[in-house]
Amino acid sequence: MEPIPLLDLAALHAEIRDELQETLLRVADSGRYVLGEEVSALEEEIAAYSGARFGVACASGSDALYLALRALGIGPGDRVVTSPFTFFATAGAVSRAGATPVFADIDPATFNLDAARLDEALKRYAPVRAVIPVHLYGGSADMDPILESARAHGCAVIEDGAQAIGAEYKGRRINALGAAGCLSFFPSKNLGALGEGGMVLTNDAGLAETLRLLRVHGSRDKYRHELIGINSRLDALQAALLRVKFRHLDGWTARRQRNAARYRELLGGGDLPVALPEPAPYQSRHVFHQFVIRCAERDRLRAYLAEHGVGTEVYYPIPLHLQPCYRDLGYREGELPESERAAREVLALPVHPALRPGEIERVAGLIAAFYGRR
Ligand SMILES: Cc1ncc(COP(=O)(O)O)c(C=O)c1O
Repeated sequence: MEPIPLLDLAALHAEIRDELQETLLRVADSGRYVLGEEVSALEEEIAAYSGARFGVACASGSDALYLALRALGIGPGDRVVTSPFTFFATAGAVSRAGATPVFADIDPATFNLDAARLDEALKRYAPVRAVIPVHLYGGSADMDPILESARAHGCAVIEDGAQAIGAEYKGRRINALGAAGCLSFFPSKNLGALGEGGMVLTNDAGLAETLRLLRVHGSRDKYRHELIGINSRLDALQAALLRVKFRHLDGWTARRQRNAARYRELLGGGDLPVALPEPAPYQSRHVFHQFVIRCAERDRLRAYLAEHGVGTEVYYPIPLHLQPCYRDLGYREGELPESERAAREVLALPVHPALRPGEIERVAGLIAAFYGRR
């Protein structure tokens, strides 16, 4: 039996090989490789797609978060509340900016910041300068109460939409709902480069201008530095390749959504002791960056699927408040129980758009067999 990898980028790129090849050669021949017209065009296209006025491309999603924090003036002595159940970069960016991350627990139904827990954290840790809700796995966080709490406590909202390009909250695109939204173009993302990349989206012209400065060492005029920034530019080649892939994004998202629906048909019905992802009513467009089930015997199921050639992954096995590098923050095990339980129970199944006919049926059949149901 052919293996079923968690992600198959080579198969996806094979579908658009001619377009990619033409673009690679065109940019190679152009003699212009950093920022420039391809990057500006990508910024405009992604901003329009996200309902934001401005897009500022940079070198990674991690840098997008860092630059957004810096552009908002967040630094040493400031606190920023976020989810402990996310990729490390979300909190890492806060620390890199010199600020302190504070964690509020998640809603177990969506794996995203629980608005009530956030509100408690904003009171307990006041003053807090910013909140970073994460739209994990491609489904939006519950933004209205999050925006409301943030407004009441006078703090900015930076969306971490790295996993959720094109996702919608109550019919509105994410990443333009707060002060800034951050995207990652890491290859495995729904819109991934053939290398690294990221972007900050914002409706604020002044913030966009500061972001553009910060990504080039704070320099508007050559060798004159107004701010202490970093080098976080996007390559023209990555921008051009992303523009090619962007033309296919909605089609690929539709395939992800169909794959997710097929899993639910095959695994739903309550026969199996497995919880399936069910978008909340406010998650009006879930883009299924991941299809994540949860079950008590996660590690044994994962090993069984691996034995049968099915790739899976655990996003994420250690919540951020329990990471060794954050020991000094003083969190204890048991303090954020929903994040800790999710870390023990979640398992991502292959849901990518290049899955072949019959593969979801095979994965679902193996899960049923693991539980002795077939
Ligand atoms: C939720 C989240 N935030 C931030 C990032 C950081 O993005 P990048 O890997 O492009 O630096 C990622 C992706 O890796 C992510 O999944």
